[in-house]
Amino acid sequence: MNTLATPQRWPAENIWQSVVPQLPGFSVEILPEIDSTNTELMRRARGGQHDPILLVAERQSAGRGRLGRAWVGEPGHALTFSIGLPYRPKSWSGLSLAVGLSLAESLNDDVQLKWPNDLWRQQRKLGGILIEAASQGAQSYVVVGVGLNVRKPITKDLRTPATAIDEYWEGASAPQVLERIAAPLIGMLLDFELQGFAPLLKRFSARDAIMGQTVITSDGQQGVCEGVDESGALLISNSQGRFMINSAEVSIRPLNASTGA
Ligand code: BTN
Repeated sequence: MNTLATPQRWPAENIWQSVVPQLPGFSVEILPEIDSTNTELMRRARGGQHDPILLVAERQSAGRGRLGRAWVGEPGHALTFSIGLPYRPKSWSGLSLAVGLSLAESLNDDVQLKWPNDLWRQQRKLGGILIEAASQGAQSYVVVGVGLNVRKPITKDLRTPATAIDEYWEGASAPQVLERIAAPLIGMLLDFELQGFAPLLKRFSARDAIMGQTVITSDGQQGVCEGVDESGALLISNSQGRFMINSAEVSIRPLNASTGA
């Protein structure tokens, strides 16, 4: 069992070897503690550090989620990391869906995606994604933060019901999960930069957790989810017609569910 008393062994070298041929200058850094891996890479980017990196933290003291929420990941229970790289996609639209798709496909057949940033399994949250961009002059840099529940969180007062990878992968540890997901995720980021979301639409739809469900948006709109379009925008229809949501500032929850944004 991984606790703070038993240091975790991270597969930094293996990941580095499989990624560096596609991404020259790539490095892997493992920190015992930081406020937030996203905050740290954004700080570095603002200070002019734009090299591609995978930054893992065993503990975050101020992990951040979407919509300004906190992300609580207990050491040994959560895998928390960010990937930073110089990035110039033709369009950013659908990037979080592409990231989620790569993670879901690396993790398990029954891992689903809840638009726009969540990984779900059996109607509970398995993890989340926080994407931020830093631009300085001509330089454009992306920070892709991922938090996954490897073991079920101890914290009870989560706003969304949680599940964990070790519910289907017995004995899973954060380093093992990282080794499985990191290189495919970086490959996905590089492909997305060239091709965008459209070629991924079919694969995303096969894992869409809210397709066909009646949902309510955080800005009060209600309707049935009809999946996403080629730009990754969410399609919802109701008696007034069909509308599209492409702002990550809007959250969605199935109607009649008490939680789930
Ligand atoms: C969400 O579910 O709202 C997104 C959660 C993203 C959490 C990850 S953990 C690693 C990285 N650092 C952070 O502070 N946040 C992301």
